[in-house]
Amino acid sequence: MNKRISVAIDGPSGAGKSTLAKMVAKEFGFKYVDTGAIYRALGLYVLRAGVSPGDQEEVSALLPQADIKITYNEEGAQRMILCGEDVSDAIRLPEVSKYASDVSALPAVRVFLLDMQRSMAEKYDVVMDGRDIGTVVLPDAPIKIFLTAAPQVRAERRYKELREKGIDSTYDQVYSDMLRRDKNDSERVLAPLRPAEDSVIIDTTDLNLEQSFIKVAELIRGRLGNEDDI
Ligand code: DC
Repeated sequence: MNKRISVAIDGPSGAGKSTLAKMVAKEFGFKYVDTGAIYRALGLYVLRAGVSPGDQEEVSALLPQADIKITYNEEGAQRMILCGEDVSDAIRLPEVSKYASDVSALPAVRVFLLDMQRSMAEKYDVVMDGRDIGTVVLPDAPIKIFLTAAPQVRAERRYKELREKGIDSTYDQVYSDMLRRDKNDSERVLAPLRPAEDSVIIDTTDLNLEQSFIKVAELIRGRLGNEDDI
């Protein structure tokens, strides 16, 4: 059997990971796996259960009932199913972002969600985005990218995205939520947000989407062309 190809894209929110990963998936025929959506589904479950997202004991007690599945619709878009319900839109609400970030700091949660992510990379050629894909989930991925951008630019992008989805917020709110999440995600003890040693860091602050994609695609093409590396 041919070895599966994995592309890991990590970085803070608003750096352009999901948009670029979707473009990569289309260009190279890989499956896109948005791992943030998995943490968001669990965050939503904890929110609905009325449990504090930082309470390891209470959250751990909920895990056996949290039935989270990843599916793909006819257009190939990832959908998140929580206990049989499609929650793909509900998980985008700002309140759920906060819960997702908080539950993701709990070691029991990270262990619980690890197999689901790894099994996707065993089944398919994937481009997977998140915070710890290159460092923990797929440490052997042959192509690792760490996407970043200045916080103000990331907040602007996120604010625009929320407005386009009709979600009510202000730039200041988005900016402060984002800084809080960056801090949370980077300072947690287990699997913090940081570039893998063998990742290529791409700063998209001064790049538009097309320019960012050209950089990412060139990198992947170069690595795929050099089969010995894969
Ligand atoms: O990428 P996102 O904003 O949808 O992710 C939501 C939260 O999930 C984020 O604040 C941190 C967490 N997360 C994580 O800890 N590890 C991942 N691989 C992906 C997301």
